[in-house]
Amino acid sequence: MADKAKTHRVATSDDIEVSTYLEIAKELQGEQFAAPEAISPAKETVAIIDFGSQYSHLIARRVRECHVYCELVPCDAPWERITALQPKGFILSGGPASVYQEGAPLTPLNIYESRLPILGICYGMQVLAHQLGGQVSPGIKREYGQAILHTTDDDSPLFAGLPRSLSVWMSHGDEIVELPPGFKALAHTENSPNAVIGNGKNIFGLQFHPEVVHTPQGKNIIQNFLYQVCGCQGTWTAGNFINESVTNIREQIKGGKVICALSGGVDSAVAATLIHRAIGNQLTCIFVNNGLLRREEPERALNTFRNNLNMNVVYVDATDRFLAQLKEIIDPELKRRRIGEEFIKVFEAEASKLGKVDFLAQGTLYPDVIESTSAETKAAAKIKTHHNVGGLPARMSLKLIEPLRYLFKDEVREVGLSLGLPEDMVMRQPFPGPGLAIRIIGEVTRERLELLRAADWIVMNEIKKAKLYRELWQSFAILTDLRSVGVMGDFRTYGYLVAVRAVTSQDAMTADWARLPYDLLARISNRIVNEVPGVNRVVYDITSKPPSTIEWE
Ligand code: XMP
Repeated sequence: MADKAKTHRVATSDDIEVSTYLEIAKELQGEQFAAPEAISPAKETVAIIDFGSQYSHLIARRVRECHVYCELVPCDAPWERITALQPKGFILSGGPASVYQEGAPLTPLNIYESRLPILGICYGMQVLAHQLGGQVSPGIKREYGQAILHTTDDDSPLFAGLPRSLSVWMSHGDEIVELPPGFKALAHTENSPNAVIGNGKNIFGLQFHPEVVHTPQGKNIIQNFLYQVCGCQGTWTAGNFINESVTNIREQIKGGKVICALSGGVDSAVAATLIHRAIGNQLTCIFVNNGLLRREEPERALNTFRNNLNMNVVYVDATDRFLAQLKEIIDPELKRRRIGEEFIKVFEAEASKLGKVDFLAQGTLYPDVIESTSAETKAAAKIKTHHNVGGLPARMSLKLIEPLRYLFKDEVREVGLSLGLPEDMVMRQPFPGPGLAIRIIGEVTRERLELLRAADWIVMNEIKKAKLYRELWQSFAILTDLRSVGVMGDFRTYGYLVAVRAVTSQDAMTADWARLPYDLLARISNRIVNEVPGVNRVVYDITSKPPSTIEWE
């Protein structure tokens, strides 16, 4: 799956003369610093120094797409944390600050002293220019949006295989007005004479954002940096990840016992399967059917884990308990709370029947980790922290095992497929923990759940037939509490209104309503009113997020 890298012109620490820069940097910062410990080039990792850009996680995704492992490290992280990664190079992210402002975040000087390759992006380029003796000033005008980049250095490894003019995406107010000693411009745009800079060795800066989709060849530039400058080989593959994880999990768990809550979702399924591959029946999965799942979902999941993968699964049908908790509850947040609390009670009761358990496995992903760690740093704003089974480890004194905590969703899916999980399960659209309860406006009852399941089944079925399922972030039905008058045959009806929602999104933080073909919408509407008794009207939700949210509750 990985492209084999061609590594001509690999820079090594021996052929670089950075002491001049370091002297300048030390002088500018007035700081003494210790030399770092020797950095081993054995492991192929790139460290992304995060200055708080909203695109930092996109840099990480692009690097991973190039099959190179990377981690985002806050710019104020201790140097030991960075060296522990044994990086082969550094990428300095963008960020909201201006380097000439007091207290602006700076790159740890040890990074320059390590003599390893550095790629600065936007603020990352300005900060390296500033620290290495150049000058950054507010630009005469902000440059925001598309620009044409003209390269002027045919030999630069960054541009290998690329045309001399490319479309790039800019978003900056500051600009470099004086290059650091030894640096030269490698490319320019109409407004930025120093759109790409380099020191002729292994330090580069880009004024534009190669990580966003609006820079169509941005990934090639990142790949060139990784392969041609850092000398990476592209060893980050699902197969390698599985092998390494299995060894680590065995080491971590030893003879211990692990429990894992299965939800039918991708993340818990992949985490459980990976752990099962490592330690077999030392793992017990607990599958709580809260009665709020979609049609056939519990049966399919159970069949996969028990029959196909031979995993130890305790199945609990707790529908009655959950519905009792939801009786007469209308407020969405109260629904969520009741469902969460009931889940913990059921899960704990089942877990206590298993005797002593040591670990709780969770399907935490890297975006959750980034969100919670970046919230601890000065540079970025907190978005939200999401815990699947919040509260459990503290109450049950369990240690956490999170084998996917360094993976992005698309990597989890690749790993899931490599582990032999069915494509249907692995490529499933996200489904909220509180399930159909937050897609029923008003009280959740058995009858209303059945009604929604039937409508939801039709939406899913038609979207899949139209081969749009994977293109959409989510597509589903909502049962509203609104009733309206209709006519069927010669009779007046007074039935429920079902809404259909289909959205495109990259990460659920923002979303747009999907422009589904009219004939597909017509088929969905026609089938719902004909096949779901009690529903006589269907509407399509055409609001984006923001201002709406994806779910209705
Ligand atoms: P909203 O509705 O906030 O949803 O735009 C963003 C994403 O999160 C999912 N979602 C939830 N997931 N528990 C979850 O596990 C919840 O309470 C919850 N609420 C929303 C939603 O399906 C979408 O993917």
